[in-house]
Amino acid sequence: MRYPGLLETYKAYLPITEHTPMITLHEGNTPLIRAERLSEELNLNIYFKYEGLNPTGSFKDRGMVMAVAKAKEEGSRTIMCASTGNTSASAAAYAARAGLSSIVLIPNNNIALGKLAQAIIYGAKVIAIEGNFDRALDIVREITAKHPITLVNSINPYRIEGQKTAAFEVVDQLGEAPDFLAIPVGNAGNITAYWKGFKEYHGLGKASKLPKMIGFEAEGAMAIVKGEPIPNPETVATAIRIGNPASWKSAVQAAEESKGQINYVTDEEILDAYKQIAAKEGIFAEPASAASIAGVMKLHREGYFQGGETIVCVLTGHGLKDPNNAIDAVKSDPIVVPDTEAAVMEAIRKLEGD
Ligand code: F0G
Repeated sequence: MRYPGLLETYKAYLPITEHTPMITLHEGNTPLIRAERLSEELNLNIYFKYEGLNPTGSFKDRGMVMAVAKAKEEGSRTIMCASTGNTSASAAAYAARAGLSSIVLIPNNNIALGKLAQAIIYGAKVIAIEGNFDRALDIVREITAKHPITLVNSINPYRIEGQKTAAFEVVDQLGEAPDFLAIPVGNAGNITAYWKGFKEYHGLGKASKLPKMIGFEAEGAMAIVKGEPIPNPETVATAIRIGNPASWKSAVQAAEESKGQINYVTDEEILDAYKQIAAKEGIFAEPASAASIAGVMKLHREGYFQGGETIVCVLTGHGLKDPNNAIDAVKSDPIVVPDTEAAVMEAIRKLEGD
């Protein structure tokens, strides 16, 4: 059967009326992939919710389809967001799909190349500010409060509504809620959305338990862990280079209510996990995504798990979003040889010897 898209599939759980345009790029319905080798190595039952397989390559599409549908329903002509890249790509795509125009504000020189390419090709008005994501979000809030432009960052509650469907899918795919849900934390909308989704599904009797929510910030941007905003956040995982998360309180609430935690991982841990999931599991996710599994590895080292627990790690974005980072991470360009069989064989022997 043809998957009808997120709004149609989950309309009973979403703020959809008879006037809501049922736009779709067939977002959602992403695979839950078991981590065969890492599960064995860590003595855990690990799955990846691979959100990089959404239409624009990140989980943002789930919330964006809902937010854009409501913007259109309400007669808005223009949407706007601040973004570290993925939100802008998604906003631009869904605006194009719905026949709206989009304006995106990004931190200059701090978004991955693929994301910038997306925003441009989908036709957004792209403005790079000489400031970081947090400043961009402040400005977007100010402008959308004064002008008839719909804000589509995750402080727009429709974004959270759409994104909560990922929790429904996890439960449906496993047949039960996992013991832990591991997730990167940036602006903290996604952890908020998953927790809402798990609670709703549990309330409807679709799962008999709730997962512990374990969220991971990048060390250089760990505002929630530190308990204070970070004025100049820095991390290799540019997607979560955020110093003052908008959904801070609800992220803390998700961690506390679920008896989980908000923790942090270093850039080194992120890059190590990033390489491991590609090389050991065949999954290419962007660096910020790898914070979820890097966090699980850290907690495993610290003896946090008993062994055998089922853990779902959310891989929030596709690795192809940020190709430069992959090439830098392995520090090896392909070797160039003459176009003969002998030269290629010699190169293979050399590489195998390495
Ligand atoms: N992973 C990726 C790949 C992201 O792009 C983001 C956020 C997150 C994790 C964190 O999610 O903000 O809900 O806690 N990206 C936003 C953006 C900020 O503008 O694309 P969060």
